[in-house]
Amino acid sequence: MDTMNFIPVLPLRDTVLFPGTALPLKIARSQSVEAVTQAQKANQRVVAISQKINSNSESVRAADLYQVGTLCKIEKIRGNATDGYQILLRGLETFRIEDIKENENGSLWAQGHPLQDVVENDKAMNEALLKSMKTSAQEILEHLPADTSQFSELLSGIGDLSFFTRLVASNLEIPSEKKQELLEMASVRDRVLVLLDLMQKQKVDLKVRGEIQEKLSRRVGKMQRESILREQLKTIKEELGETDGANDFEKYRAKFEEAGFPEDVKKVALEELKRLEAMGSASPETHVIRNYLDLLVALPWSKSSQEAGGTLGDLDLEEARATLQKDHYGLDTIKKRILQHLAVAKLKNSNRGQILLFVGPPGVGKTSLGQSIARALGRKFVRGSLGGVRDDAEIRGHRRTYIGAMPGRIIQAIKKAGQNDPVFMLDEIDKMGRGFQGDPASALLEVLDPEQNSAFLDHYLDVHFDLSKVFFIATANSLESIPGPLLDRMEIIELSGYTTAEKLHIAKNHLIPKQFSEFGLTAEQLQIPDEILLRVIHAYTREAGVRDLQRKIATLCRSSVERVLGEKVHGEAKSENPIRLDLNDVEEALGSERFVHEVAERLSPPGVVTGLAWTPQGGEILFVEANLMPGKGQLTLTGQLGDVMKESAQIALSLVRSRLASLIPDFEFDRKDIHVHVPAGAIPKDGPSAGVTMLTTIASALTGRSVNPKLAMTGEITLRGAVMPVGGIKEKVIAAHRSGIERVILAKRNQKDLKDVPEEVRSSLKFDFVESATDVLRIALGIETDQIVPSTGPAEPTSKRAS
Ligand SMILES: Nc1ncnc2c1ncn2[C@@H]1O[C@H](COP(=O)(O)OP(=O)(O)OP(=O)(O)O)[C@@H](O)[C@H]1O
Ligand SMILES: [Mg+2]
Repeated sequence: MDTMNFIPVLPLRDTVLFPGTALPLKIARSQSVEAVTQAQKANQRVVAISQKINSNSESVRAADLYQVGTLCKIEKIRGNATDGYQILLRGLETFRIEDIKENENGSLWAQGHPLQDVVENDKAMNEALLKSMKTSAQEILEHLPADTSQFSELLSGIGDLSFFTRLVASNLEIPSEKKQELLEMASVRDRVLVLLDLMQKQKVDLKVRGEIQEKLSRRVGKMQRESILREQLKTIKEELGETDGANDFEKYRAKFEEAGFPEDVKKVALEELKRLEAMGSASPETHVIRNYLDLLVALPWSKSSQEAGGTLGDLDLEEARATLQKDHYGLDTIKKRILQHLAVAKLKNSNRGQILLFVGPPGVGKTSLGQSIARALGRKFVRGSLGGVRDDAEIRGHRRTYIGAMPGRIIQAIKKAGQNDPVFMLDEIDKMGRGFQGDPASALLEVLDPEQNSAFLDHYLDVHFDLSKVFFIATANSLESIPGPLLDRMEIIELSGYTTAEKLHIAKNHLIPKQFSEFGLTAEQLQIPDEILLRVIHAYTREAGVRDLQRKIATLCRSSVERVLGEKVHGEAKSENPIRLDLNDVEEALGSERFVHEVAERLSPPGVVTGLAWTPQGGEILFVEANLMPGKGQLTLTGQLGDVMKESAQIALSLVRSRLASLIPDFEFDRKDIHVHVPAGAIPKDGPSAGVTMLTTIASALTGRSVNPKLAMTGEITLRGAVMPVGGIKEKVIAAHRSGIERVILAKRNQKDLKDVPEEVRSSLKFDFVESATDVLRIALGIETDQIVPSTGPAEPTSKRAS
């Protein structure tokens, strides 16, 4: 081509076009449009020269351009001079500008000559350079997330080193000044060296970026996934004509109207909606706001049970009584207490500040009483378990600035209830922990405090919610680990467990009908006789409540279903007779008996005594053992003992030594060791209540006299030999009865506690109320010790804790 001629100049912004490569361009600036128009008249040739500064100005001056550009051919062209062009430029050769001139209409024209590549003549070296270029390029391609297999194939087929450098230079992610430098470099070898260096940097950069990306995407992955799914869902809905995007905000507005917001909440909701509207739908925060708005809309700000029924003031106490009566057998005093509670609420027409606390072993009906109350009041029932809650945020929620923040359990449960006055059961408040994050008990106090809970603030919700109409009921297995301030707020109702007769009733009238309907059985198909139920109660369960019994009955039903169905299939005649379960069926379904009647079948060697213990699971009997061996008068204790119990053992030993010394004068205390063992139970037994048992055990071992295994005892002793009252009498006595005990020794001052024990249990046991160690030894071992009457003055502490 004639280099003496001037060629139209096409200024390039922020890019460099290398010879051998192609570049699609949009031509809009009038100066450029003019250049392209002129080129069409002159062989489709233009000189593409990069601007030194990336300016968007309409008219580029000669001084704004580099000295070296690329002579190009316009390969394809679309559009026209008025609207602009779209062209595909192909670089032909590097072009050094010698002269450049501006026309009166502002268009630029350049004159110059091609810049020839300087290629070394060393063929082996060129090949080595090409090879390392290719290796580097392939490595970079591997690090790119997109599918690069085609491009990589293309690269491997290239044999021209000069072209390869240009292809790489134009595709590397480097600033355009750097590209310009490479364009101006005539030596191919120099270009290769610069490029190898740049590729190395790019490789490291890509690798680091990849790692960061991976970490990030792992974190953001879930959020992104959700927002992508949400987008897709929206598209699908739009396709189905169920909604259209803009309408979404209108829908929120409509929901706001229905939600019955208080004024301040409405304001917050509208503000958040405004933020949402201003935000692009791609922002991950939109879904945080949507979640929040959805919660606001879903909460029962003004929805209550009163729409359906009446207020507390209209409560029909008779009907409530009937509901409680129908749902639960027995529990008379408890039902009475509940009704009193409801009567007070009716009178005040509010349940403010009154919280019931049901305490008792598992499976005694705490939860189901709560459900019953909800039914009686015509309100929704919701539960929130506090077991294992250690962080107050679980109650009060996390601030929305946290990733994955959620409202606390209280607000979640209220949302689930859909009404702002449900019966809310706070289960397991005794299992609440205390973490370093804050004290959940104090958060709970805020929930329950009538002064504060009309404006409860959940951190996530961030606006006040009125909890004052909620009817709170708490449950616990034991009072011991409930913080005092919480306990002060509540009205404690203790449920202690059922006797065998009560369990039989509950099984027949409640548990079996429930299981039958669960399994689709009828009384015409399956009968479980009383003796079978009694056997299950005695030999397969050992519990204060009826949870395990319920499970066992379910197992019996399940294993019978097949038989019922089978007999129906094989003959009509047979199915008319109901199946009556017998002992074999029970053994087949439940396995062999799990609990032998421990006491009845027990031998009674000297040194073994039956004690009574209290645990959060109800009462329990336990066998305390003592043994003598040659030694130096030391006392060894093993088993599950707390500190208090160790002291009881010391006291018992001292008492025995002082009382029995006269009885067996030749006994050498200094030459014998005594070992007392309290067998492991479910929980460590702390607290003073095994004093009399240890006293009797040690005395029995020393004298070689056995104690009737059907005699059980509980009580504490003082060093002076007085027997002190202990707690948990009701549970202990019921447990004794359950285990086949016939006679029980109690402290005289515990006599009053027997009034809580069911008549049926009381009348089948013989009680001895004792005041001193002397009485105990006489009754248990038939030993008359010195009749020292111990003082039971006020100085002797009363044991309050049960063990
Ligand atoms: N007196 C009763 N009359 C009828 N059914 C009862 C009675 N007591 C308990 N039940 C039934 O026993 C089952 C277990 O009771 P529930 O779940 O209320 O126990 P809980 O005291 O809440 O135990 P936990 O402490 O383990 O939560 C329920 O199906 C309940 O209906
Ligand atoms: Mg429960």
